[in-house]
Amino acid sequence: MSKRALITGASSGIGAALSRRLARRGYEVWLAARRLPELESLARAIEGEGGRAHAISLDVSKPEATEQAVAALDREVGGFDLVLANAGVGGPAHPVAKQTFADFRAVMEINLMGAAATILPVIPGMVERGSGHVVGISSLAGEVPLPAAADYGTSKAALSFFLASAAADLIPRGVAVTDVHPGFVRTPLTDKNKFPMPFLVELEQAAEIIDRGIERKKRVIRFPLPLKAAISGGNLLPAAWRDALVNRNRPV
Ligand SMILES: NC(=O)c1ccc[n+]([C@@H]2O[C@H](COP(=O)([O-])OP(=O)(O)OC[C@H]3O[C@@H](n4cnc5c(N)ncnc54)[C@H](OP(=O)(O)O)[C@@H]3O)[C@@H](O)[C@H]2O)c1
Repeated sequence: MSKRALITGASSGIGAALSRRLARRGYEVWLAARRLPELESLARAIEGEGGRAHAISLDVSKPEATEQAVAALDREVGGFDLVLANAGVGGPAHPVAKQTFADFRAVMEINLMGAAATILPVIPGMVERGSGHVVGISSLAGEVPLPAAADYGTSKAALSFFLASAAADLIPRGVAVTDVHPGFVRTPLTDKNKFPMPFLVELEQAAEIIDRGIERKKRVIRFPLPLKAAISGGNLLPAAWRDALVNRNRPV
């Protein structure tokens, strides 16, 4: 029997590209997001390539409803083998001085609460079966405090911490956990950015890196190399020096 994967944010960008790759690797995929027509057209394209795909309408900004929907779907399919919490919004172009609490909460609801509501309901079944894999799409922006990214960076740093803590619980019980930290990837999300995006990675290349890491059940996937090296190096500096350095390249 083929393995079953749930992918949120599958209607465009990284989620759509990864869904296609997972289907080509033999996964039956459940494609979730708000834009059903995009999901249905992706599902048709996957089926046209000989895969199996289902389009699911899901709004992860409603975490309680998401938890219930994912739990019900998990029961219906007999337990997902792979769950990829990819749905996300925002980026480093949102100065904190222009942010309201409502803006901040909206990003948290999707990037953090939405991801937790996607992952938590499938974990008991995976633990019971002693197998399964949960993946969260975080960001290199969650590793370094960037200007104009207090909401986005906080949501991704928190998601990564959640995944790291979950990994400590789950890996000894046979469930793999992968935390993905992309740099800039060309998708509809970054197409809106007006600022320079160093070491921008093309979508298919990013999807290939992530897919290969998922296949190997890597704990953390960080790319591209020059940006991850710069961020790791910057984080070794005293905080005031690092802040001065990142402020020289303000996105807005
Ligand atoms: N592109 C980058 O440079 C980059 C870098 C690091 C991390 N990431 C992360 O990668 C993930 C995918 O982003 P992307 O670049 O591929 O952007 P994208 O093309 O804009 O895709 C975002 C996806 O999230 C879905 N989504 C947004 N709000 C949602 C909601 N309330 N409920 C359900 N789905 C929702 C969107 O679907 P609907 O609109 O149809 O709901 C869409 O499918 C995000 O978590 C992002 O933070 C991206």
